[in-house]
Amino acid sequence: MDDKFKIVPYTEKFNILHQKEILRIDKDAFGNTSHIWSLDNFTMKIPYKEKLSFYLVHGPENIVVGFLIGSSSCVDASHLNRIAVAKNNTGNGLGKLILKHFLSISKKLGFTKTTLSMIYSKDNLYLLKFYENAGYSILRSKKDILSFLKSKNKLNELDQFYPPFTEGKYIVMSRLL
Ligand SMILES: CC(C)(COP(=O)(O)OP(=O)(O)OC[C@H]1O[C@@H](n2cnc3c(N)ncnc32)[C@H](O)[C@@H]1OP(=O)(O)O)[C@@H](O)C(=O)NCCC(=O)NCCS
Repeated sequence: MDDKFKIVPYTEKFNILHQKEILRIDKDAFGNTSHIWSLDNFTMKIPYKEKLSFYLVHGPENIVVGFLIGSSSCVDASHLNRIAVAKNNTGNGLGKLILKHFLSISKKLGFTKTTLSMIYSKDNLYLLKFYENAGYSILRSKKDILSFLKSKNKLNELDQFYPPFTEGKYIVMSRLL
């Protein structure tokens, strides 16, 4: 990774200005495994989004090569909604870099834990390793999963989030800060 990569904070203006690059990265990253996001998904207002979302940019022209969209999910937890690195830049430590930044800012803001959910698929099992390397672990107890679903107003979706994990179901992961 060269030193021409940097992390810049999310703003709605930047998002709209760079929407073409951002939507392209999203499509390339999620087209096969999950639903892709529209501009509305990116600009939608959610608590703490402006403080917990970032872009990875490259060079003097600030070409977008990745993003992480975060928010809060309850009083003490931040939440990672989406992370992606442009296909031609993956495997260079950029994902790790932006995730580390998100964890550090989450902690600075006073959150004591952070959560995420991901689709279980044989095609993205490497993600488990990626998140486990960053200190996350899978929530397996009904109590913990219900507490997460409550914060997301999804209490009626327990079946989709509770083990055993099969193709298309969700895994919830959490990490103390
Ligand atoms: C997940 C993602 C953001 C990782 O970004 P990245 O820049 O490629 O990741 P890094 O280069 O920082 O790698 C960090 C670690 O994850 C591992 N890793 C990343 N991608 C991997 C892959 N495809 N296969 C195996 N390991 C992988 C790396 O080996 C590295 O481990 P190390 O620290 O032990 O060397 C990127 O692969 C991506 O955009 N994926 C598609 C979108 C997606 O699924 N997002 C998550 C939704 S929940």
